[in-house]
Amino acid sequence: MPINHKERNAAPRSVAASHPYEEHQGESTRREDSRLADALAFLRGFVAQPMSVASVVPSSPYLEQGVVRATDLSRARCVVELGPGTGGSTRALLRAMNPQARLLAIELNPDFAARLRQRVQDPRLLVQEGSAADMGEHLERWGLPAPDAVVSGIPFSTLPTEVAHSIVAAIQANLAVDGRFVAYQFRAHVASYTSPVMGEPSFEWEWRNVPPMRVFRWVKR
Ligand SMILES: C[S@@+](CC[C@H](N)C(=O)[O-])C[C@H]1O[C@@H](n2cnc3c(N)ncnc32)[C@H](O)[C@@H]1O
Repeated sequence: MPINHKERNAAPRSVAASHPYEEHQGESTRREDSRLADALAFLRGFVAQPMSVASVVPSSPYLEQGVVRATDLSRARCVVELGPGTGGSTRALLRAMNPQARLLAIELNPDFAARLRQRVQDPRLLVQEGSAADMGEHLERWGLPAPDAVVSGIPFSTLPTEVAHSIVAAIQANLAVDGRFVAYQFRAHVASYTSPVMGEPSFEWEWRNVPPMRVFRWVKR
């Protein structure tokens, strides 16, 4: 079969498509810039608050996609994200959510919350500075229904025990019946707090992240 030189010398079409998200080169470049800026802001956040940020780099796109898959956003009307950080995970959730759905992002770090408001311009996103333990009050303040899913990047392994228990109690109290709680963690502390309240989780490892993470999933019955 003759070689089509024109085709052979063309830029490989699969380069952009092989990345989990990117479809256009321009969009890809913008996202890479944004990821670099996020990584620097995240590192600053870690240096200032190492115990509550608990990681030097934000989640990888692979982990974000694993979290989106575990959450099943196809029919969700209201989603709560706990600990959105610099917003990579927030953008991934928004990309998978319905046009009418709402995402309430609750972030303890004021710099991260301000950055999120400024940089993620999506009418479905509501950014709340404060603690995940006060989820019920935050939902009420924004007039939101019981969430169909709660997604957490909060580092349960470094939280004071009473804060960890309050966050789990708030999730159990506010999540809709049949709603999902998805938490990504390297260590299993989140399960030792949550399983006595919500039962045994399913989980999968995502190795393509620094550090590798378990993506835990509970369904409220
Ligand atoms: C490991 S980072 C995850 C950031 C981001 N979701 C990601 O995947 O890259 C943990 C985040 O949880 C936030 N956080 C810690 N304790 C919190 C709390 N009690 N309520 C809300 N956010 C909290 C931290 O400020 C930080 O942004």
